[in-house]
Amino acid sequence: MGPELEFARAALLSGDVIGLPTETVYGLAADATNRTAVAKIFAIKGRPTGHPLILHVGEASWLDRYCRDVPPEARLLARTFWPGPLSMVLYRDPTTVPDEVTGGLPTVAVRHPAHAVALALLRLVDRPLAAPSANRFGAVSPTTREHVLHDFGDVLSIVLEGGACEIGLESTIIDLTGTVPRLLRPGAVTRTELESALGCRVYDNDGSGAAAPGTLASHYSPRARVEVLPTLDDVQSRARELLEETRSIGVIVNEPLSLTSLEARVRIETLEGGQQVLAHELYAALRRLDGAGCDVILTRLPPPEGLGEAIRDRLERAAAPRS
Ligand code: TXA
Ligand code: MG
Repeated sequence: MGPELEFARAALLSGDVIGLPTETVYGLAADATNRTAVAKIFAIKGRPTGHPLILHVGEASWLDRYCRDVPPEARLLARTFWPGPLSMVLYRDPTTVPDEVTGGLPTVAVRHPAHAVALALLRLVDRPLAAPSANRFGAVSPTTREHVLHDFGDVLSIVLEGGACEIGLESTIIDLTGTVPRLLRPGAVTRTELESALGCRVYDNDGSGAAAPGTLASHYSPRARVEVLPTLDDVQSRARELLEETRSIGVIVNEPLSLTSLEARVRIETLEGGQQVLAHELYAALRRLDGAGCDVILTRLPPPEGLGEAIRDRLERAAAPRS
């Protein structure tokens, strides 16, 4: 354990917000038991208050410190998928989780992350950390320390190094407070995996629960306009069409694309190697294309199996009309 973790611990205990690597995306972390520190997260991120944060815990057993009426399903999922990219919405203990974390909701999303740095810090601090993704509200989540510094380098005194996030997409969120389990956000723990662990169906979000920013139609958006198309051929012909009117186009594909006659004016990100590679690289690719000044980003939706459900979800939200 290097001195960085000690500095980070001291910062958190004095009420500061820090940049924290996790296996999904980097977070903006604060001591969840400190109301003032939690309020700083909203200010830094530009996130409307009232949007609930995820409570990160250092041990599965902390569930009983911060939640009430923990159902057997939650214990089962914790045993199966924790530490890992799964957040569970449960009833919070209002005596240990302040209103500021959950926007006053009676529930709280809890996650026990798998990243070695996040785990070591949580255990060292011995307090839960509230942490949203470390991006400005509505924008693309960061998957490297450099991404966090790009967005918040001027306001954060500590951004811990944790390498490129192994998964690259935000955690799966399952709501276990209703009569049936509901998937609020797809992620690397897939619906199929949840269903086989639970032995029952996991339903879609019916919208009756809390308004969740990650579930707003438009979210995860780069500056460029994003268009998702069904096939590679469609991507190719749309690129040709757009070049008549647009200065600069970015393309994200998961297999080589031949646009030879256009190549000079089209920036192509080829993320080959399957769904895991696509998930791992997607946000970095969106950021690179934004950085290169692309006006439009074209991409194709992967099939909905496995991680594909989460990738499609993020791409569709990135492509949704913005308010
Ligand atoms: O992978 C992740 O979950 C990352 C890393 C840093 O852990 N965090 C993350 O946080 O993605 P954030 O704030 O960007 O997204 C949290 C999502 C939001 O959509 C929020 O509305 C939802 O979780 N959420 C949090 N608490 C909730 C609750 N009590 N009920 C329903 N949704 C909740
Ligand atoms: Mg987020």
